[in-house]
Amino acid sequence: MDLFSTYTAELERYAGEVLTAPVGSYKKRDIRESLFSTQQVEQHLRSLIPIEELRDAGSFFTGDDMADEAVEYFGRSISAKSLIVDPACGAGNLLIASSKKLPVTKSSLRKTLRVWGRCLAGLDLFDVFVEATKLRLILEAVSRGARPDILDIDEAKVLFPQIQEADAFDHGIALKRATHVIINPPYHKMAASNSCEWADGKINAAAKFMDLVSANVGRGTYVSAILPDVLRSGSRYEKWRALISSKLKCSVLSAGRFDSKTDVDVFLLNGRAASPGSAPDWLGVEHCAKTIGDYFDISIGPVVPYRDKQAGVSSPYIHPKQLPLWEEVRTQEIKETWNYAGTLKKAPFVAIRRTSSPSDTYRAGGTLIKGTQKIAVENHLIVVRPKSGRVGDCRKLLKVLQNNKTNDFLNQRIRCRHLTVSAVKEIPWKGELCE
Ligand SMILES: C[S@@+](CC[C@H](N)C(=O)[O-])C[C@H]1O[C@@H](n2cnc3c(N)ncnc32)[C@H](O)[C@@H]1O
Repeated sequence: MDLFSTYTAELERYAGEVLTAPVGSYKKRDIRESLFSTQQVEQHLRSLIPIEELRDAGSFFTGDDMADEAVEYFGRSISAKSLIVDPACGAGNLLIASSKKLPVTKSSLRKTLRVWGRCLAGLDLFDVFVEATKLRLILEAVSRGARPDILDIDEAKVLFPQIQEADAFDHGIALKRATHVIINPPYHKMAASNSCEWADGKINAAAKFMDLVSANVGRGTYVSAILPDVLRSGSRYEKWRALISSKLKCSVLSAGRFDSKTDVDVFLLNGRAASPGSAPDWLGVEHCAKTIGDYFDISIGPVVPYRDKQAGVSSPYIHPKQLPLWEEVRTQEIKETWNYAGTLKKAPFVAIRRTSSPSDTYRAGGTLIKGTQKIAVENHLIVVRPKSGRVGDCRKLLKVLQNNKTNDFLNQRIRCRHLTVSAVKEIPWKGELCE
């Protein structure tokens, strides 16, 4: 992230000018539209740092509206006695949004920053981001009317002793003292620790961060988090959800796509550390008496083309690109083959495309496969076989999948870009939809 120092150096020059200029030279709007702005931070971040490096570190910063929404949960609970901690603060977007709840002493920037410095704590692995956070908080205070009475920018930065370069996992202490935690953690994959009780192997870093937060905060602490949808809806995170529900009395709210450049849907988790109460409604869907899982067996296609050798009997082979949406295909008509040694699938069944987004016209697009031959099915398809073995039930299923109510259900149930077996199993199977 060292390249980001080009931006922080420019920002520091600008902040220095603001502090030393005659009072009133810089209006609120000048500062808000300067290098200080979230848009400018984002633009510099993306032009200076290769996207792969940003992905590896999970360095995607929160937009102003979403940051304000996350802070809104704190309501009137913030005062000059609060300690608001962002354990993965980046360039400070969430701390700046939080500072809007703190008082400003118009006559003195120094007095204002003394209070803010006591109330705001932030950690990040990268010093360039920590520097940007401090500089932007100083500019935020001036833009809110605090008269610059510190001429030296270094002297102003020193007033934020709790905003530091540190690994949050080595620094639980800040969380223990927090009255409020605000967080948009990184979402990349990382190894679960040996002591992790709810998963092993690679997990989403956001889940690990929330485990850290919930384990360290004291009773009554407010927590507001922006998290990837997979934690809310993925089967792999069921134990994680139980753990969070046991430590935080919380609610969840889908918040749509993170931003126009980041194709990940997120949700807001708002809660307070408390004795376990009732668990939140993580999925937010109506529980239906009858679902697709009652009438169909559901599995993922087993063929993984880059991994599986052509080492078995030649069989008809299907994958999403070759299947016409909503049509019926006979096994005898399938031209492509795979010499597959694993499990072949017996028709009739509906093949549903796994890749799926809330912006698609149909979340679960299907093709009916009928006929007598057993076939090899690629891993980007979900196989949905009627327990009755009847083609008629597959036709009813296609109608259910095309119904808007199914789209609405899936858009609430799972906003990740891949459907899961559990989500398909839970699709309501109501009489009116299946006629
Ligand atoms: C998704 S960004 C969010 C930044 C900021 N809170 C915001 O909302 O704009 C996550 C930040 O966490 C930082 N980070 C990643 N791993 C960390 C760790 N172990 N300890 C502290 N910060 C970390 C990254 O450098 C990145 O700046």
